[in-house]
Amino acid sequence: RSVLVRSSSSAKQSLLHRSFSSSVPERKVAILGAAGGIGQPLALLMKLNPLVSSLSLFDIANTPGVAADVGHINTRSEVVGYMGDDELAKALAGADLVIIPAGVPRKPGMTRDDLFNINAGIVKNLCSAIAKYCPHALVNMISNPVNSTVPIAAEIFKKAGMYDEKKLFGVTTLDVVRAKTFYAGKANVPVAEVNVPVIGGHAGVTILPLFSQATPQANLSNDVLTALTKRTQDGGTEVVEAKAGKGSATLSMAYAGALFADACLKGLNGVPDVVECSYVQSTITELPFFASKVRLGKNGVEEVLDLGPLSDFEKQGLEALKPELKSSIEKGVKFANQ
Ligand code: NAI
Repeated sequence: RSVLVRSSSSAKQSLLHRSFSSSVPERKVAILGAAGGIGQPLALLMKLNPLVSSLSLFDIANTPGVAADVGHINTRSEVVGYMGDDELAKALAGADLVIIPAGVPRKPGMTRDDLFNINAGIVKNLCSAIAKYCPHALVNMISNPVNSTVPIAAEIFKKAGMYDEKKLFGVTTLDVVRAKTFYAGKANVPVAEVNVPVIGGHAGVTILPLFSQATPQANLSNDVLTALTKRTQDGGTEVVEAKAGKGSATLSMAYAGALFADACLKGLNGVPDVVECSYVQSTITELPFFASKVRLGKNGVEEVLDLGPLSDFEKQGLEALKPELKSSIEKGVKFANQ
């Protein structure tokens, strides 16, 4: 009788298992730069995500330790660490989503553009490998300067003949996370309920939070709105200065990166109405890349949403950011084609 009970319960188990795996598809997520300040907590957070079945951790150093450590966590995904360029092909093969936090971060006094010379080359090489080994994957670009690294990725993909503008994303989620936190503090509303779109790009004045569209609504003075906008634009620098030479945002960035990756996976899995801000190829303005609200679907970008009504202050901010964003885009395109 005990055998019977056991076999029927194991039959039930396998049924459960089957229904689980048929409703939650297998998804391989690769993190490039997985042993870094962002990479490690991002690996942890992706290991906790039940939508991930395979987690591939790539870096030029230290991935065996990170993979062994994260791999002991008793959640769904299997974890494999890959180290060095010889293992990049295996790290990428079959990936549905590639997240790129590889490259150097800022030190006090640096702009994101100061990272261009080092990070542009790293992104170029990694994107050439993506074109070869997982051309259908969604790509979440975290490496700065995002305003330029996304256009670089697009050019590399075009050269490889596999560019799909629906699958390339600059991760600007940390700007949204910051805008929500700072707004909740001033508006005195529960932070978990706050929504604030952030448009433009991901550096200084190109970051434009639309507090006029923030919910729950609050009647904040123009002075407060100006200060909130500035704090959102300078949020990264606030962290760089507080870390005093030990890097830039890593923990809040890992959170933001995990949030955006989760939205991408939900979109791939057919969950309806997944909307996040991201820096993507766009026709919303005259600039070829622009961050705005994006609806995510089974093929990546399903729809780039309109900016909606802007306050006069935001309209000015939008015009003011265009020259810098334009030149960062052109710099990336030029680098990729030289
Ligand atoms: P980090 O220096 O702690 O880590 C970077 C990792 O990249 C290191 O482990 C390094 O070995 C690895 N790496 C270098 N070259 C590589 C290559 N060719 N292939 C694979 N991995 C490689 O830096 P952190 O703090 O993790 O920042 C990473 C990047 O993310 C920086 O460019 C930083 O500016 C950017 N960032 C972007 C944010 C955003 O909102 N999009 C926010 C914060 C940082």
